[in-house]
Amino acid sequence: MTDAESIETFSVIRERRSVRNYTDRDVPDAALRAIIAAGTQAPTALGLQPWRFVIVKDRALMQRVSDYCKPILIERIGEEAGAGMEEFLAALKNPGFNIFYNAPVLVLVLGAQNAISSFLDCALCAENMMLAAWALGIGSCWIGSAALVQENPDLLTALKVPDDHQIVAPLIFGYPGPLSPKAARREPRIDWVT
Ligand SMILES: Cc1cc2nc3c(=O)[nH]c(=O)nc-3n(C[C@H](O)[C@H](O)[C@H](O)COP(=O)(O)O)c2cc1C
Repeated sequence: MTDAESIETFSVIRERRSVRNYTDRDVPDAALRAIIAAGTQAPTALGLQPWRFVIVKDRALMQRVSDYCKPILIERIGEEAGAGMEEFLAALKNPGFNIFYNAPVLVLVLGAQNAISSFLDCALCAENMMLAAWALGIGSCWIGSAALVQENPDLLTALKVPDDHQIVAPLIFGYPGPLSPKAARREPRIDWVT
């Protein structure tokens, strides 16, 4: 790796942010394949690569998923309100709010149920995907709320999630509208043991 490439790597890591405001521009299939290919470069326990992917461009289906998840989220967050969730709860109560922020594409990273480290492996894959997307000028956001569809067999069938896999990372992708500032990071607490 050259110095210029490593500077680029750090800049992508530093500048990536969750995008919740998308243009209607379609994300080309080739870009989605490149993003998934970057995901599969992630390390995995025992080298199992326990993932598969579903690319959803069906906006009506995404709307159905959003409509299914919203009332459940309102109920569950309502019970825990106070943990910085007020703003999200208020958005969920807006009938026009879509949990996928009207993004043009949703990619589900599915983890094999029988793999020893499926969740961690797929999370590493997902982060690679979001960084690769950013490097291509494509925004993303992990929509954990959408994992609630795991409780709905009809939606799982529509989303082509096989019985022996679980949804680990529901990721939206699209070309960003005006960007929000990057969320600030706290200074990491670091203890050195020498
Ligand atoms: C496991 C996980 C679940 C998330 N779920 C949601 C979600 O349902 N909706 C959403 O808008 N953002 C979601 N996010 C995005 C986080 O809110 C976001 O990463 C965090 O606020 C930091 O901001 P940044 O990504 O811009 O650095 C999720 C992120 C992770 C890692």
